[in-house]
Amino acid sequence: MSEYETILTSVKDDIGVIIVNRPDFRNAINRRVMEDLRAALDEFREDDGVGVIVFTGAGEKAFVAGADIGELRERTMLDGLAAKLQRLHDDIEDFEKPTIAAVNGYALGGGCELAMSCDIRIASENARFGLPETGLSIIPGAGGTQRLARLVGKGRAIEMILTGRMIDAGEAQGMGLVSRVVPQTGFIETVRETAGQILAKGPLAVRLAKLAVQTGFETDQRTGQVVERLAQAVLFTSEDKREGTSAFVEKRKPDFKGR
Ligand code: COA
Repeated sequence: MSEYETILTSVKDDIGVIIVNRPDFRNAINRRVMEDLRAALDEFREDDGVGVIVFTGAGEKAFVAGADIGELRERTMLDGLAAKLQRLHDDIEDFEKPTIAAVNGYALGGGCELAMSCDIRIASENARFGLPETGLSIIPGAGGTQRLARLVGKGRAIEMILTGRMIDAGEAQGMGLVSRVVPQTGFIETVRETAGQILAKGPLAVRLAKLAVQTGFETDQRTGQVVERLAQAVLFTSEDKREGTSAFVEKRKPDFKGR
């Protein structure tokens, strides 16, 4: 694995972990973090030994406290149009392998947006979510105005964005922003268990299931179902489908290959 300046990466048990590592800045995302995240994603994409990616933050206080406000001060209209963080989050959402945000503290602004671009969000009890950008007289610009509304509904999203109100892990779970809240003790181990459940499934099925849900969510149901049918047709011809169904009949664990 390469070494990065602002993130830590590791691979164990087929789980690739990316830790945003600027604890003195509450893991705020600066240009370098964006570059490092892109490079790490490219590396994990090519690595057949990685089946699931977990994002988390260094230290106990923050997942990611948003874009680096020091850098934000210098941003121009052209930077806004280039929308590098928005594009990075789009690439995370589209990433071929499943992604989990292990939210272990503040997930604010771009940090909340990073979590929302992952497939699954698991929060520790001390997690806090919010989109405080309007307080800086900007708006959530890395997908936040769109993804939050899609995840929790338009009314709740507008309320959170206009007021900048921070919510705790329990409220985030109540509105469907996170799927689970787990104790801080053993947090990462619990996240790894969820990753392990995904890793035990057929890798091609996992990949195509993600594609079908993602694509279907952005279109009408009938078009989504066409994607579903085509994905299923591909899976019906796969070696892993033969293995999965044979293993069930033979009462043994499947040995999937298709990553
Ligand atoms: N960008 C740059 N630096 C940040 C930062 C950010 N988004 N968030 C925190 N920091 C820095 C602080 O400036 C501070 O630096 P200092 O030690 O040199 O003073 C350090 O991280 C610790 O922050 P502090 O506010 O003292 O920690 P806290 O635990 O009391 O509060 C937060 C944590 C996350 C609630 C608070 O830092 C905060 O509100 N950050 C900004 C969040 C935000 O608006 N994000 C959206 C940006 S678009």
